[in-house]
Amino acid sequence: MERNIVKVGLMGFGTVGTGVVRIVQGHQEDLYKQTGLGIEIHKILVQDKEKPRSISGMEDRMTLDPQELIGDPEIDVIVEVIGGIHPAKEYILAALENRKHVVTANKDLMALHGAEILQKAQVKGCDVFYEASVAGGIPILRALVEGFASDRITKMMGIVNGTTNYILTKMSEEGADYAEVLKEAQALGYAEADPTSDVEGYDAARKMAILATLGFRVPMRLEDVEVKGISGVSKEDIAYGKKLGYVVKLIGLAQRDGDAIEVSVQPTMVHKSHPLASVNGVFNAVYVHGEAVGETMFYGPGAGELPTATAVVSDLVTVVKNMKLGVNGRGMVAPYREKVLKEDQDKLSRYFLRMIVADKRGVLAQITHLLADNNISLVQVLQQPYNGGQQAEIIMVTHQAAKRNMDEMLETLAGMDVIHEIKSCYRVEGEEE
Ligand code: NAP
Ligand code: HSE
Repeated sequence: MERNIVKVGLMGFGTVGTGVVRIVQGHQEDLYKQTGLGIEIHKILVQDKEKPRSISGMEDRMTLDPQELIGDPEIDVIVEVIGGIHPAKEYILAALENRKHVVTANKDLMALHGAEILQKAQVKGCDVFYEASVAGGIPILRALVEGFASDRITKMMGIVNGTTNYILTKMSEEGADYAEVLKEAQALGYAEADPTSDVEGYDAARKMAILATLGFRVPMRLEDVEVKGISGVSKEDIAYGKKLGYVVKLIGLAQRDGDAIEVSVQPTMVHKSHPLASVNGVFNAVYVHGEAVGETMFYGPGAGELPTATAVVSDLVTVVKNMKLGVNGRGMVAPYREKVLKEDQDKLSRYFLRMIVADKRGVLAQITHLLADNNISLVQVLQQPYNGGQQAEIIMVTHQAAKRNMDEMLETLAGMDVIHEIKSCYRVEGEEE
């Protein structure tokens, strides 16, 4: 490389793109000291050049034509922060075809088409980094790939969606309904007008597919992730959880048992003593357990202009350092372990159950017999009068049980006359691991 400036083609000048420009412009000296090269935002791809921007002086660099970035021989690196699958995927593949390195914050794209993009990068000898795609400003991907290179990760649990963590925290603090808090979150701009991807767990599932691939070194696909969102979480579940020492969190779980892996996203009762229980509001955290290191946790902002942009620019710094050393395309470790998914029925968990039953003699005894018959043992039981004393509400927390036994037990329960409604069933995490 002859020149001493690395030219960047920035695709997208929205929340994250603006932060990238701010950090690259504001930290020139530090970036130069760390890489030995200057970094310049050479061109910016947008949809609307007339849109007001919070940074001035970039007007001449803005373009509506992606070819001005992809086809510019002076541009070494493409930073993709337009989001979505199309046309981001086509732009990235075309950039790699032209041997440009890529940094992206796009979890949707990397969760669905990451393998294809990374393979193309390998063939072309290019870097592709995507630190900002999971947990925004928390440097978790680099920690998994580099920090845990010497260890074997057995379990990761993530609060990787800020919107749902905000909603669950508010429901817990205010004793409010899901629908009420969602409306308030939308009005404040914390939740999207169409919140489906966040509240139904799909956003978290994409992030967990990425974490599991890097953490376990297996090619996990989005379809491998079992997903359940928070729209069914009631204020009663939260209140009873609290009474028994738990908080409800949307937990992304990636767990390895021998070689068998399970990955899920679901509302979970987390014991208040677990570090994830105190991750509140829009904050994210990823708990990682390694065979050698034991427990670790990474905490921070999962979104926002500058937090997300720091992750993007850190990736950019890595690309530039690699250019200086001439080692681009060699830093990525492709998944090298065979994917073995744990059979659904063999999955083990503790459970929280809430049900409405007839308030008659012997009902609790029938339930406990059924549990014993299915090899399920209880940790906690709470019974309350329900419906003015006409019925009773029973809340139970079990020891670890196989999903096979739990499903059979629930099916039998649902068919019993004295069981009027099974209100909820959650996985339980924390304490008594
Ligand atoms: P955003 O605010 O909506 O900005 C998107 C930008 O891309 C806009 O500047 C838009 O142009 C441009 N754009 C969109 N489609 C385009 C197209 N087809 N051609 C040319 N330009 C196009 O989005 P964002 O919040 O910055 O998010 C960007 C990416 O970062 C997404 O993948 C997102 O998932 C990821 N991410 C975001 C956050 C966060 O906190 N926001 C956190 C983690 C990851 P105009 O400005 O002209 O409309
Ligand atoms: N919608 C995401 C969240 C933004 O709520 O966490 C960051 O990916």
